[in-house]
Amino acid sequence: MNISIVGSGYVGTTIAACLADFGHEVTNIDIDETVVEKINAGKTPIHEPGLEDLVAEHGGNRLRATTDYAAVRETAVTFLALPTPSTDSGSIDTSIIETSTRSLADALADKEESHLVVIKSTVIPGTTEEVLLPILDATATEETTRHQVAVNPEFLREGSAISDFKDPDKIVLGTDTTESHQRLTSVFEPFLAESDTAVVETGIREAEMIKYANNVFLSTKISLINELGNVCKEYAVDAYEVADAIGLDDRICERFLQSGVGWGGSCFPKDTKAFVAAARDAGYEPSLVEAAIEVNDKQPVRLLNLLEAHVDPGGNRIAVLGLAFKPGTDDIRNSRALPTIEGLRERGAEITAYDPVAAENMRERFPEIEYAESAREALADAHGAVVVTDWDEFAALDEEFDRMADPVVVDGRRVITRRNGIVYEGLTW
Ligand code: UDX
Repeated sequence: MNISIVGSGYVGTTIAACLADFGHEVTNIDIDETVVEKINAGKTPIHEPGLEDLVAEHGGNRLRATTDYAAVRETAVTFLALPTPSTDSGSIDTSIIETSTRSLADALADKEESHLVVIKSTVIPGTTEEVLLPILDATATEETTRHQVAVNPEFLREGSAISDFKDPDKIVLGTDTTESHQRLTSVFEPFLAESDTAVVETGIREAEMIKYANNVFLSTKISLINELGNVCKEYAVDAYEVADAIGLDDRICERFLQSGVGWGGSCFPKDTKAFVAAARDAGYEPSLVEAAIEVNDKQPVRLLNLLEAHVDPGGNRIAVLGLAFKPGTDDIRNSRALPTIEGLRERGAEITAYDPVAAENMRERFPEIEYAESAREALADAHGAVVVTDWDEFAALDEEFDRMADPVVVDGRRVITRRNGIVYEGLTW
């Protein structure tokens, strides 16, 4: 099948490469010339494990990229994988997807066969039918050129996006006609033929809400275990043992029960805020989700309070280990390292930060702090260290702590294994 995908970010590039790997002819559309050139040359524009090999294999062949929306006319389905960033009030800004849908509508105006536009972007229920469909309909002239819309939310985690796409927990297909349902199903046919993945066939509004409900549930789950962890800490109880035990209850399950410095990234913070804004717009005060956000905001402050109990950051060198919002990515969006660094700066600390891949991104945000080439270098002569990201390499740190001026380590992710000869504090245990 000929498929077009608008957007070459984390989601768009991953889907484009995976659909090409399933045997589809895929055209990726992006306004950024450099990204387009890279994909056509078989090079990936983003860092994502496994993506390089797929783009190297299919880029320039079954996977092509262009800046020209006219390419959608040669395809039967277009996926819209563009961002819906937060506004100041926390609601979503739909201007990027609206502009793109206008370009799509213009390009599709003289296409005779009907076209299916699938929304991958995270949108509040009603957006696809009430905002995007009217834009598409505006250029449709006859019944034959009426366009169909569908919603197929993505649940890809950065750092494991390829395996999440190829082995998902579920695929959600939100459609409103038999024709759009059949066409969308045939996109996934090569994959579904060999997989027993659950397919959720639902309406458009339900599919839009499933994405929010999923992310709001998971982020609230993490905030709940963080709250439990904070209380565990007060009572000298190991929160991880508690989490392991309650995780055995299959109504709770052990996944997403790691307490620590909190959740970051591009989805949970944005989606919880948008959910709160949408609920308020509808006249409902979602106090539980608001509390989950509040717990998350407070975790980095607790981390710094713990550090201060042992060493005054003012005028002292503090190492920040880990800058990415989670391991396996160079993405620093809403990383807990941001409030941690801000808090350390307010307290007058001299900061040396280290991350195996995210330092360059952080340097753009905080050019004034120091960046080390290794954890060893970051710890040298430091009076304290805070661990913000659970990179595996931090578990192997040992004699590196002996190089510190004061060996005080506050671990926000339960990754450090050494205990002897250092002042070790877990954030929630
Ligand atoms: C998330 C969703 O999982 C994905 O389905 C959605 O489509 C996009 O948002 P992602 O942001 O890539 O994916 O990261 P994820 O692995 O879910 O982690 C999010 C944050 O929660 C990270 O900061 C992580 O460190 C934190 N986290 C996760 C915890 O603090 N504890 C946990 O137990 C799990």
